[in-house]
Amino acid sequence: MSAPEDLGGVVGLPHVTATAYLTALREGGSLPGLVEADDLGTYVVKFTAAGQGPKALVAEIVVGELGRALGVDIPDLALIEVDAELGRREPDEEVQELVTASAGLNLAVDFLPGSVGYDPSFEVDPDQAARIVWLDAFVANVDRSARNTNLLVWHKTLWAIDHGACLRFHHAWGRPEAFARSAYRYDDHVLAERGDPRSVHAELSAQVDRALLSDVLDLVPDAWLLPDPRRPDPQAPPDAAAARTAYVDQLLLRLAEADRWLP
Ligand SMILES: Nc1ncnc2c1ncn2[C@@H]1O[C@H](COP(=O)(O)OP(=O)(O)OP(=O)(O)O)[C@@H](O)[C@H]1O
Ligand SMILES: [Mg+2]
Repeated sequence: MSAPEDLGGVVGLPHVTATAYLTALREGGSLPGLVEADDLGTYVVKFTAAGQGPKALVAEIVVGELGRALGVDIPDLALIEVDAELGRREPDEEVQELVTASAGLNLAVDFLPGSVGYDPSFEVDPDQAARIVWLDAFVANVDRSARNTNLLVWHKTLWAIDHGACLRFHHAWGRPEAFARSAYRYDDHVLAERGDPRSVHAELSAQVDRALLSDVLDLVPDAWLLPDPRRPDPQAPPDAAAARTAYVDQLLLRLAEADRWLP
């Protein structure tokens, strides 16, 4: 995949165009698709019309790019243009509807060929585990359980995927303190015994500042940040710029309350 494009100071995600829908990844609840693109890359595509809507894709970008900046291995992300035609050729009706309804920009995750799901026999580097656990506690990720690890092992390294359910505050704005102060359930985290988030807290919390968070929010397409007409939220920020500021403020508030969510 090409390196991130430099968009006049703001480094943006690469843009690619889907050329073929290969298969549905049915183990994923949001019915992600394996898709080939015009850069000859193969991607796992998360569609805007899936269950949680574009907000899940916002969370994928914000948490994925934040994690990458904090030293967590995350497959490269790109924005992928999907033509409605791509769906019309699909025999499966569910896939056809999802792809057709998602015409336009979607999220592409670099496919890691030959990767396998994490299992406890894999020897995890304690520092890597600590970074993942810290990230998940910070963004309130509930999707890293023993049953559904959302961790892949590829080239002897642990890769974190599937951050669409993080940042739950963006489904109902207006209670920033409640999110900032919410405790994290370490019992449910598959790596909680493998790494201690307190061991990386000083380093990572010093890195997460307004500049880093703003850079990450700049990677999100405006359209995905607009209030969702299907799920009206009177407290939602009115436009994309206000939304970016609201995400940054909310995450800085969460950071300031680390005593509440560290173990
Ligand atoms: N980048 C990738 N490389 C290889 N396989 C992947 C990649 N991303 C996802 N997968 C595979 O597809 C499955 C579904 O992906 P993912 O968990 O991101 O989707 P989801 O619909 O959000 O899932 P969930 O049902 O957990 O909400 C993963 O469990 C994994 O097996
Ligand atoms: Mg998953």
